[in-house]
Amino acid sequence: MSAQLLPVFPANNSAAVPVIELTQTDRLRALHTQMRDRRACQSTFTFYADQVIRLLLEQAYGLLPFQDHQVTTPVGATYQGKRLATPLFAVSVMRAGESMEFELQRINRDIPIGKILIQRHQQTKQPHLYYSKLPANIAQGYVMLFEPMLATGGSALCALDVLLAEGVPAEQILLLNLLSSPAGIARVNQQQPKVQIITSSIEQGLTGQAYMLPGIGDFGDRYFGTG
Ligand code: URA
Repeated sequence: MSAQLLPVFPANNSAAVPVIELTQTDRLRALHTQMRDRRACQSTFTFYADQVIRLLLEQAYGLLPFQDHQVTTPVGATYQGKRLATPLFAVSVMRAGESMEFELQRINRDIPIGKILIQRHQQTKQPHLYYSKLPANIAQGYVMLFEPMLATGGSALCALDVLLAEGVPAEQILLLNLLSSPAGIARVNQQQPKVQIITSSIEQGLTGQAYMLPGIGDFGDRYFGTG
């Protein structure tokens, strides 16, 4: 599926990396319709969310560097192929980000996956890092960061700080979301302009409780059946 390159926020920031929003085809909108329907049960929700996640992953793979790699086929011919030119890692922002690991592991069987746990601090109400465990040598490759809902951008920025502190170059981080708010995109883009955001929908905005509009509800609860 092709994608749209959208103007970034602020539009006059020429150094900023564009946000990629998947092309809003009828097929993609049909997947969203199933997922967003408040009546969808857990299995329906995960069935359609996984398909959207697969599209996001394929889009992200399209941004990775590949190198020539030839193999000999069973009939003795040479196939001039390709393979990834760089190590690839994934990191999930727990818990919702873990939903994106299942499709990833169907594409890539041997990918190291790190975890980051961020929650709102009870007193400060700011995103607080509670735990992280990252793959060894993560700074030497590309990293897909899984944060399905880019709402205010607070936890995404906190997770990005963890990766940057570990030495991952910002331009080698791909931040994958199912839904993004314009405010969340603007905030991430302003603070980390080299990080590439890939989303399946830029939403209209946020509610007073920082839920996306028109939105999907609580993604983690709906995916893992804890609502
Ligand atoms: N997190 C969610 O699960 N949903 C939203 O709409 C925003 C943040």
